[in-house]
Amino acid sequence: MDFETPIDQNHSFSVKWGKYKDRNILPLWIADSDYQTAPVVIEALQERVAQGVFGYTDQPSADVKEAIVYHLKTQHNWEINPEWIVPLSSIVNGLTLSCLVAGEEGDSVLLPATIYPPFNYVISNTKRTSIRIPILLEDGRWILDFEALEASITKDTKILLFCNPHNPGGVVYTQLELEQLHNICERNELLICSDEIHCDLVLDADKKHIPIASLNEDAAKRTITLMAASKTYNVAGLGFGFAIIADTRLRKRYKKLVLEKMPEANLLGQVATAAAFKDGEPWRLAQIEHLRKNRDYLMEEINTTPGLKMFPLESTFLAWVDVSALMLMDSEKFFEDAGVGISAGAYFGDSHFIRINFACSIETLEEAVRRIRKAIAGLSASG
Ligand SMILES: Cc1ncc(COP(=O)(O)O)c(C=O)c1O
Repeated sequence: MDFETPIDQNHSFSVKWGKYKDRNILPLWIADSDYQTAPVVIEALQERVAQGVFGYTDQPSADVKEAIVYHLKTQHNWEINPEWIVPLSSIVNGLTLSCLVAGEEGDSVLLPATIYPPFNYVISNTKRTSIRIPILLEDGRWILDFEALEASITKDTKILLFCNPHNPGGVVYTQLELEQLHNICERNELLICSDEIHCDLVLDADKKHIPIASLNEDAAKRTITLMAASKTYNVAGLGFGFAIIADTRLRKRYKKLVLEKMPEANLLGQVATAAAFKDGEPWRLAQIEHLRKNRDYLMEEINTTPGLKMFPLESTFLAWVDVSALMLMDSEKFFEDAGVGISAGAYFGDSHFIRINFACSIETLEEAVRRIRKAIAGLSASG
């Protein structure tokens, strides 16, 4: 359980590290962690690789089904029928299929206005139109504007693409908020596609992730839940996630689309997910401790740096930082020139912000903070 020792990423074809190869820029952008995954995951993969046979495989394997059922029950108090599990090679593809399964070309899809960028392009790629719902800051938490959401629904609106915990901003929706949201969807007969990929990365001890589909029977019936071990266990390159769909007819239609439109989920991704969900909990808890410390350090530093503001982050390793006071023309370039590779908020729908990935060693984070502070000091000095 080592979250501090640097791993040489020069030969790993890492997208995160490749972007700044041979440049003195710390990569704190795409949502990968810098440290190794859980030892139990590495061992399970090594064992499977040692077998040396990699033919077509059951989708989902009995092993991964059992692990997912166990994980959802123990972590999220959600009892599912294993039949509800639909393996996916990617969660973004799962979003695409959710748009396709709901309605037809030209229909409208609701989504948060500030959101992980692929939410936008899955809608345009499937020839639907977007209705972007503002996210409001309430007591330091970024919450969908429920009133605006209900007011925006038209007769052509078929589905809400929801993200909980939210990326960016890390809000973990409460039971009351989820109930409000579900009520709106029930009243307006909307499907819900709930991307819960970050659900095992809740940092605040007093917050709990609640799958919206677990609220009640109606919520279960109208929801496609998307989950994966990929963010929590740093296995995004292994191509495995899953949808949980309780409604038999909806699941049948969705599975048909998976077969027609998507590559099969990856066998090694299944192995990693099964190991993570069965035996990875001690490592996950240790990681949460590490991330909490990094978050608290970063929050303190950001909020004492002139021109920067960070609100409490309930979950994820992705800090959402308001840089509007710096009046930057190009935030990505400014921070790259400072030696820190961030994600520009504009990609997520809000150019006043940047996103900083702090799933790295404390040493890397401290160096990033030093560089950011120096660049900002230079900005004020140059007037
Ligand atoms: C909210 C959200 N959904 C989906 C993904 C990507 O999932 P996948 O790589 O399985 O397509 C990410 C990656 O950061 C994400 O933050």
